[in-house]
Amino acid sequence: MKASHALILLIAITAVTAIKYEAEHAHVIGGAVQINDNKVFVKYSNTGDKIIFTINAVKNGPHTMLLNYNANSNTLMEVQVNGHQQEPLKLYHSSNNQKHVIELRVGINSLVLKMSMGEILNLDSITVQDAVPTAKRGATITYTEYEAEDAVTNGLIIGPERKFMTLPSEASGRRAVQLVDKSKYVEFTTKDISNAIVVRFSIPDTPDGKGNVARLSVLADSKFITDLTVTSKWSWVYGAYPFSKRPSDGSPHHFYDEARALFNTTLPKGTKIRLVPSSDIVYTIDVIDMYRVEPPYTQPTTGYVSIADYGADASGKSDSTKSFQSAIADAKSKGANVWIPKGTFSVKERFVLDQITIRGAGPWHSTVVASEPHGVGFFADWAPKGSSKVGLYDFAIIGDTNYRDDQQVDSGMGGAYSDSIIQNVWIEHTKCGLWLDGPFHDLHIVGITVRNVYADGVNFHKGVTNSVVEQSIFRNLGDDGLAMWSDQLVNQNNVFKFNTIQVPGFANGIAIYGGDSNQATDNYVADTVCEGGGLQASNRFGSTLLAGTTLLARSTLDRCGAPNRFNLEHNGAMWFWPSDGEMTNLVNVTDIELNDSSFAGITFWGGHVTKLYFENVNINKAPYAWEANSVSGQVYAINVVAKNIEKTGIHTCTSPDSFKIVDVKGNSGWNSTSCN
Ligand SMILES: *[C@@H]1O[C@H](CO)[C@@H](O)[C@H](O)[C@H]1NC(C)=O
Ligand SMILES: *[C@@H]1O[C@H](CO)[C@@H](O)[C@H](O)[C@H]1NC(C)=O
Ligand SMILES: *[C@@H]1O[C@H](CO)[C@@H](O)[C@H](O)[C@H]1NC(C)=O
Ligand SMILES: *[C@@H]1O[C@H](CO)[C@@H](O)[C@H](O)[C@H]1NC(C)=O
Repeated sequence: MKASHALILLIAITAVTAIKYEAEHAHVIGGAVQINDNKVFVKYSNTGDKIIFTINAVKNGPHTMLLNYNANSNTLMEVQVNGHQQEPLKLYHSSNNQKHVIELRVGINSLVLKMSMGEILNLDSITVQDAVPTAKRGATITYTEYEAEDAVTNGLIIGPERKFMTLPSEASGRRAVQLVDKSKYVEFTTKDISNAIVVRFSIPDTPDGKGNVARLSVLADSKFITDLTVTSKWSWVYGAYPFSKRPSDGSPHHFYDEARALFNTTLPKGTKIRLVPSSDIVYTIDVIDMYRVEPPYTQPTTGYVSIADYGADASGKSDSTKSFQSAIADAKSKGANVWIPKGTFSVKERFVLDQITIRGAGPWHSTVVASEPHGVGFFADWAPKGSSKVGLYDFAIIGDTNYRDDQQVDSGMGGAYSDSIIQNVWIEHTKCGLWLDGPFHDLHIVGITVRNVYADGVNFHKGVTNSVVEQSIFRNLGDDGLAMWSDQLVNQNNVFKFNTIQVPGFANGIAIYGGDSNQATDNYVADTVCEGGGLQASNRFGSTLLAGTTLLARSTLDRCGAPNRFNLEHNGAMWFWPSDGEMTNLVNVTDIELNDSSFAGITFWGGHVTKLYFENVNINKAPYAWEANSVSGQVYAINVVAKNIEKTGIHTCTSPDSFKIVDVKGNSGWNSTSCN
């Protein structure tokens, strides 16, 4: 009996590892989503039409994919995985399904299926064997996170505290551990195999703002593994927005930075990792991420020139700017792409790319470092010229920017990238991660990490269409984590989905400023600090007014909402502000969890709203469920359930005649109203 049960279980486990991906949920470029007989599919009708799928795998190697389709003629498809061309795929007119083998790697893969010959192809879905599900909400995180305050420590736990300009207010979960001398430590036991570490820390600044430098030792089961260099050079900003690097300006914040190291050994699950200071200054340890980094990827056998052949120095000691420039120019003239081998390459300029791929051995192995402020960046040309068909894969960009100067061009990436893919790139210490000025179209960003920057994580700025950011990780930003800003030119049809944003530091987790039919879905946002909420949709900053349907769906916001710097108002975990004009088009807010919000769950500021729908929203612990400040119009509530409301259901001084939350059905927990 037992054995047969085990067998059934085994079969069940084997069977569930095939995952079906609906074509209409992928990033559709050129094709059109259609419905026929209740079946939703994507219709390809031109060569060049393509779909980009995201597939999570746990092993390197061949995976069988089954396609469900119908075709008007025999069709030839180009197949690209993580930017690598693979065996083309033939789909026969006489059949409705076809098997094909694709080569995947561990982690998130991008799969492009592009029609290169054929008439009409209706693709319903693909099913990939041995693929694994991605996280339900937020990015699929491939490391394990350990909060210092949950570890074993003889240090001092600080927080919880959400007051702006305090150390715990910028810590994840709003608590951290302080180690005040060399006898103090933080120790935790690993839950997974690991070979690399990231420590999020803060150490005090120096009076001249240049920053302290110290070490933090990493021990594994009492054995020395490595020393991390920790510095306050890339943290601590001061004074008035957009903040300076002068301590005399007062009002410090942006306290944290991160140090990372790849070990020369792999540690088993159950290893005791201990962090020990090397100086008697105060170390604040917030969170530790333990990674299991894949070995370096190797240079593709064809189609790439390596910067090593142009004199690049993998030790980072001498400057490699010219090597990059020559490699890029040479590759362009040959129709080839550029390979960044394992190593640290120091540069002092940014590179402007068009119709080329730059690929590294992985963001832990191939690192491009700025040797001076504003000295790095992988840019597209600016519109109207713009760039297209750029691929950026598998490397790190580490800048030398330590405050925000909006006169400088010093984001990790910028410009107008049409029909391009940015995947598995890690960006730190630049102004924004990616500040992307449109008009451009069809950009696909997947699996990137942006941390410790001085402005936005990603900004789709004016005229960006049909572009996606997904499966990406953002922490410690200086402005919105993910923003779409329809500044004069409309952003249309873009999606931010399955992203994780932690401690944006300033402004919002995710913000949609104007634009037409944009979406933020399946995201996770935690710990907004100042002047922002987890999610915002608004008509602000001179944006084109929200049009079409704006969808904010299936997301969780923990400890979001924040005080405003200038007055007594606060931002809710979600907030809406029709500052530049009325919000009259449908804003659909559905399936949202708001946990432990700092102020109201949902806030409205000023202006006029008429068509905001809130459906299946849980507000778990907040001072208020709703807050309405001098707003007029009405919003609709369906299954908005509030629990553990500390003050009143609705905080408003606006008369119910001018602003109304229409209680459609299924609502509870927010009957009471207060004005002060
Ligand atoms: C790995 O690093 C440790 C600590 O720096 C060092 O003692 C050891 O010799 C290194 N091992 C190898 C194989 O390089
Ligand atoms: C909002 O979106 C959800 C999910 O897509 C959908 O089920 C619901 O009908 C939409 N609500 C409105 C008011 O359109
Ligand atoms: C958020 O709320 C949901 C629903 O109550 C709960 O399942 C989840 O654990 C909460 N998350 C946190 C981090 O509190
Ligand atoms: C208001 O109170 C009634 C009675 O307790 C309850 O049934 C209803 O769900 C409450 N509505 C809201 C919006 O909280």
